[in-house]
Amino acid sequence: MQEQALYGAKMMQPGLTAADSEENTLRPQHLEDYIGQEKVKQNLKVYLEAARRRGEAMDHVLLYGPPGLGKTTLAGIIANEMGVQLRVTSGPAIEKPGDLAALLTNLQEGDVLFIDEIHRLSRQVEEVLYPALEDYALDIIIGKGPSAQSIRINLPRFTLVGATTLAGQLTGPLRDRFGVLLKLELYSPDELACIIRRSAGILDQPITPEGAYELAKRSRGTPRVANRFLKRVRDFATVLGDGVIDRDVCLMALRRMDVDELGLDELDRSLLRAVIELYGGGPVGLETLAAALGEEAVTLEDLCEPYLMQMGFLTRTPRGRCVTHLAYEHLGLRPPEACDAAGGQQSMF
Ligand code: ADE
Repeated sequence: MQEQALYGAKMMQPGLTAADSEENTLRPQHLEDYIGQEKVKQNLKVYLEAARRRGEAMDHVLLYGPPGLGKTTLAGIIANEMGVQLRVTSGPAIEKPGDLAALLTNLQEGDVLFIDEIHRLSRQVEEVLYPALEDYALDIIIGKGPSAQSIRINLPRFTLVGATTLAGQLTGPLRDRFGVLLKLELYSPDELACIIRRSAGILDQPITPEGAYELAKRSRGTPRVANRFLKRVRDFATVLGDGVIDRDVCLMALRRMDVDELGLDELDRSLLRAVIELYGGGPVGLETLAAALGEEAVTLEDLCEPYLMQMGFLTRTPRGRCVTHLAYEHLGLRPPEACDAAGGQQSMF
């Protein structure tokens, strides 16, 4: 089992990689520094204030949305705003019920436990979580057979923050135990440009507004991508430029990284090309497409599809994925006559 503790001196612990701790330096620590997700922020502010006024732990929170939008960051903000510790782990890291029991019994009153990829918890582990969430209690079976005994251990009141890419991946009973459900949306280029300028400030990296906007436009609506681009473009500006990130350095760097004007990378373009060249524009099932590309279905679903759908290049239908005429145009291909704007080829139906 792996567990990490994040945020601030009181929470830094072994188990963090260099990339993790660098990402942490860019994470906002308070809600007022968090850019975008206005609806989520406004509601969260109320829930936090209400819990603080009542002197209670905040209710359990489920954060869902595509990867890289700031779910871990928000969990850290919830802990900071409540003045408690954040404990970070993930669904796959909690292998056995005993792993979860160890985590829960080490929490202190009010702590936030963040479980990333919570949909990947095993059923056995989920069963242990239910009484912990509802009654702040652990039911432990001691012994085997007829002499087995169940004992109940009380836990401190804590807040579970669960994160998943799709709320629908969670079992019903687990989803029902969250009092707060927050859906994170892809960010606008303006919001991403603000995030990039803020991150550049923290990194002490000069950047022009045009440079920040160019990176923002190509960051697929995702702060994690924006911050990654910022760091790589900084390398190009340092070695091949005059140290300042301006629009020209961005254009050169992104071209060398095979990121196109709309932020699509090689995998996005391969996906669209495969639907067009192998399946006549669709519909094609996700698993079939993943096999054709030699990728995991979940990689395509989590990393490529949200942005391709947001851009209007891909649609999901009950029969599978279809590309739209916009995708043909973006790839410099001529859409077939029967390809409608909503995606796919009408002749297939
Ligand atoms: N870094 C990553 N996500 C962020 C956000 N939403 N606001 C500010 N900085 C961020």
